[in-house]
Amino acid sequence: MYTFEEILRKIEGAIGGIRFENPPKSLFAPIEYTLALGGKRIRPALMLMAYNLYKEDVEQALNTALGVEIFHNFTLLHDDLMDKADMRRNKPTVHKVWNANTAILSGDAMLIAAYQWIGQTKAHYLKPILELFTQTAMEICEGQQYDMEFEGRQDVSVDEYMEMIRLKTAVLLACALKMGAILADAPESDAEHLYQFGIEIGLAFQLQDDLLDVYGNASTFGKNIGGDILCDKKTYLLINAFQGANERQQAVLSQWIGAKDVNPYEKIIAIKAIYDELNLRELCEQKMREYFEAGMAHLDALAIPTERLSILKGVCAKLMNRES
Ligand code: IPE
Ligand code: IPE
Ligand code: MG
Ligand code: MG
Ligand code: MG
Repeated sequence: MYTFEEILRKIEGAIGGIRFENPPKSLFAPIEYTLALGGKRIRPALMLMAYNLYKEDVEQALNTALGVEIFHNFTLLHDDLMDKADMRRNKPTVHKVWNANTAILSGDAMLIAAYQWIGQTKAHYLKPILELFTQTAMEICEGQQYDMEFEGRQDVSVDEYMEMIRLKTAVLLACALKMGAILADAPESDAEHLYQFGIEIGLAFQLQDDLLDVYGNASTFGKNIGGDILCDKKTYLLINAFQGANERQQAVLSQWIGAKDVNPYEKIIAIKAIYDELNLRELCEQKMREYFEAGMAHLDALAIPTERLSILKGVCAKLMNRES
């Protein structure tokens, strides 16, 4: 079995070898810029780790894994435009370095490149892999649309939020894991448990992302802190703030949420103060732990010796305490 570091090295090596030789440069330079900025590479790593639970020759899953990572990076180009986010991985976002049209079209080209890489999957597995991938990609669009719609609503429930983050984030982690299982000829029930494991840790992963957006450190997180607050994103924190606020806190919330032309610095301070008063950081961390534990139960249900699970479990435990 490979260590996590060895798996990451294989992924980085393969991504480093991707070239876009065709003109026009202005279409492909933003793609190379994005892929070179790194990131955690957690989706391809999950795929190869899932594969490696059953088989040694992880290179067999590498092209498919690259496709999923390129797809993820495509979603980031469009997401940053939609979220008006200026920083990613400690660098200005594509729509800032170039412009909005570039983020749209280079993003589209990345989606197509993702299909090209996934299309290189061995013919025997191609149909189930494409079916899973295509369904996942559509679900991510659905989740992103809910995310945007929720910006303008103040009555979003926790259940609606959980479904939104399942769609926009969790399904891609789940898809990557299940693809690894499919490519390794894992038993069907294992593939399903790995998918459900991905959903649970994916939900915890997005809760953590929302927490870091408020409580993280910009230089390690690589994104501007407070971006979700400025967009009125209905995060677990904000939904619980609405639900738990006393009269004074309600007044502060309705003063800032949905208000136009506000001082961004003051808005972030004001909303964060309410989160702190209501101990929402702890509430969110508790919720994350619950999903993490639910995920672990799916790993324990796999038909493989428990010692083979230690790498995957270790990586996921670290993910829950990440700062980037
Ligand atoms: C960012 O994903 C988008 C979310 C689903 C939160 P990652 O946190 O995996 O971003 P990178 O690829 O490591 O930069
Ligand atoms: C990520 O949600 C979902 C997708 C990119 C599909 P966020 O908007 O929270 O991700 P970040 O924080 O910008 O990475
Ligand atoms: Mg975003
Ligand atoms: Mg977003
Ligand atoms: Mg975020």
